[in-house]
Amino acid sequence: MKKILVVNGPNINMLGIREPEIYGEKTYADLLAFIEDAATEAGVCIESFQSNSEGAIVDKIQQAYGNFDGIVINPAAYTHTSIAIPDALKAVGIQTIEVHLSDISKREDYRKVSYTSQACIKTIAGKGFEGYKEAILEIL
Ligand code: DQA
Repeated sequence: MKKILVVNGPNINMLGIREPEIYGEKTYADLLAFIEDAATEAGVCIESFQSNSEGAIVDKIQQAYGNFDGIVINPAAYTHTSIAIPDALKAVGIQTIEVHLSDISKREDYRKVSYTSQACIKTIAGKGFEGYKEAILEIL
């Protein structure tokens, strides 16, 4: 069975509380349950990881080397600032899909730049939780 690592960045643990008009009313626990259901449906094994720290995300990506077949990542705000995260993704060479709950191409200008995307085979944005499912299915 394929193993996929799902990584969520800063403030994704605040789903349901943070800006519900943008990110919806569902919680991070709801997201985890949704991802588990999608994994069962797809017949893959998922590990979910969330951190508010860039370094912890880099550590987790490095530890994925040799242990995962794919990565689904929502780096949240680090999407627009971090070089270390795409560098780590390139270092491990695991196929990765970038996911965003909101459509970052239609928001503030500073969200239109994604440093992460250069290390990903695809970016899915603006589809809410469904984007994670699409990414899991795509990575198979
Ligand atoms: C986000 C979009 C980012 O710009 C923002 O900083 C987030 C969430 C999204 O899922 O839509 O925290 O990655």
